[in-house]
Amino acid sequence: MTTPILTLTIDGKEVSGLATETILQVARENGFSIPTLCWLEGLTSVGSCRLCMVELRGSTALHPACITLIQEGMTVTTSSERLLRYRRAIIELLFSERNHACAVCVVNGHCELQSLAQQLGLDHISFPGLYPALPVDASHSRFVMDHNRCILCTRCVRVCSEIEGAHTWDVKDRGIRSRIVADLDTPWGDSTTCTGCGKCVHVCPTGALFEKGKSVAEMFKKPPALPYLKATRAQEV
Ligand code: SF4
Ligand code: SF4
Ligand code: FES
Repeated sequence: MTTPILTLTIDGKEVSGLATETILQVARENGFSIPTLCWLEGLTSVGSCRLCMVELRGSTALHPACITLIQEGMTVTTSSERLLRYRRAIIELLFSERNHACAVCVVNGHCELQSLAQQLGLDHISFPGLYPALPVDASHSRFVMDHNRCILCTRCVRVCSEIEGAHTWDVKDRGIRSRIVADLDTPWGDSTTCTGCGKCVHVCPTGALFEKGKSVAEMFKKPPALPYLKATRAQEV
């Protein structure tokens, strides 16, 4: 059965896409830019960061573009004063929840959170900083996990499970107390499942996961070719 092609309007422009596509996919295919953090091409979409929120005509609620499928006749707004206000508030909350001292961060200049803050014109945080004292796990021979920089996007959890097949990472606890843990909350270096592939390090949008022994200038994140790896796996099955 062929997938129906639907027509919709994004920011006043009539576009079309497959019924199986999300607003984010169709928007990006047509040159519209919607900010994202938890979403990464090649991984399942979880819709958790809410940065990709868009407005839909006929609905007072905001909708996450990365997990909302297009519909015939939909009218989408991807940028407005209201959306900008919410997106800025999300970034501010992320900065205030943990310790994001960019000037001393190993990925200063190569961080998606920092770049988004710059794009959205954020020059101060209006929420009080919580500054929890969180651990840094340097037990792995090649990598480090700094919980102070983690924004709980779960990209590391998904890439390790869905692409590497190791499922080393998981999330423990709830809400503000949530923490990424290796195996059953053991030091990463003691993990019996981690293959040391480094995929989690390279999909991490911040300095929460980084390689040991690299200077700030070398600390580029290289998201692996996830869509390619995924397609290859599918052929092997
Ligand atoms: S290095 Fe690879 S196997 Fe180890 S936790 Fe990261 S993604 Fe999983
Ligand atoms: S360690 Fe990095 S990739 Fe994993 S949840 Fe935290 S910010 Fe996201
Ligand atoms: S990118 Fe859509 S909710 Fe995070």
